[in-house]
Amino acid sequence: MLRAVAHAVPGMPLIASGGFADGQGLAAALALGAGAAQFGTRFMASTEVNLHPNYKKALLRAAVEDTRTVGHGLGVIRAVRNAFTERMAALETSSGELDARRAAFTAFSLKMAAHDGDVTNVKVEAGQSVSLVGTVIPVVEIVRRLVEEYVAAVTELPRCAPGAETVVRTLSPPMLSAPGALLPATP
Ligand SMILES: Cc1cc2nc3c(=O)[nH]c(=O)nc-3n(C[C@H](O)[C@H](O)[C@H](O)COP(=O)(O)O)c2cc1C
Repeated sequence: MLRAVAHAVPGMPLIASGGFADGQGLAAALALGAGAAQFGTRFMASTEVNLHPNYKKALLRAAVEDTRTVGHGLGVIRAVRNAFTERMAALETSSGELDARRAAFTAFSLKMAAHDGDVTNVKVEAGQSVSLVGTVIPVVEIVRRLVEEYVAAVTELPRCAPGAETVVRTLSPPMLSAPGALLPATP
């Protein structure tokens, strides 16, 4: 998606969003052409965020397959799987009436999870990146780790393709622009 958008609107500043929770993710977003990455779920599991402790524990427990999207036709959200998401999914697959689905969707609010701590019957919104979140730590520590991981990731890259820099430097501009210039010669 990110590459498709970068091709569609060259030169437009892009912020990648969804699935980024560490410095390796930031490096990947920048490599794919974004100018920045947005981190949502990672910062929900921070000490400073005023979320009910049950919500934070639910985030720490969730693995990559433990979220799903619901609310199709109403305003799709991604949430940690629980009785609420399964009830919504059942209504959606049985093509339940939109009004019945809307009633079920709006009756069980995010506030009931975030403020009251019910993580079983209501919306516990989180991104797929939740599987990368294993600790509740202060924001300053999240940012420190992001920077450390980002620097480690980009420092490691030249070692993944030893010699690549030399090859690129020795190719002259006309060779680089020729069709198939970087493909191996066919026998
Ligand atoms: C609790 C919560 C509420 C959100 N509410 C909205 C919303 O109202 N509108 C929206 O476009 N995205 C919403 N999002 C999505 C975020 O803006 C963001 O795109 C997403 O969380 C980024 O993915 P990540 O959580 O994997 O970092 C919400 C996400 C969470 C976790």
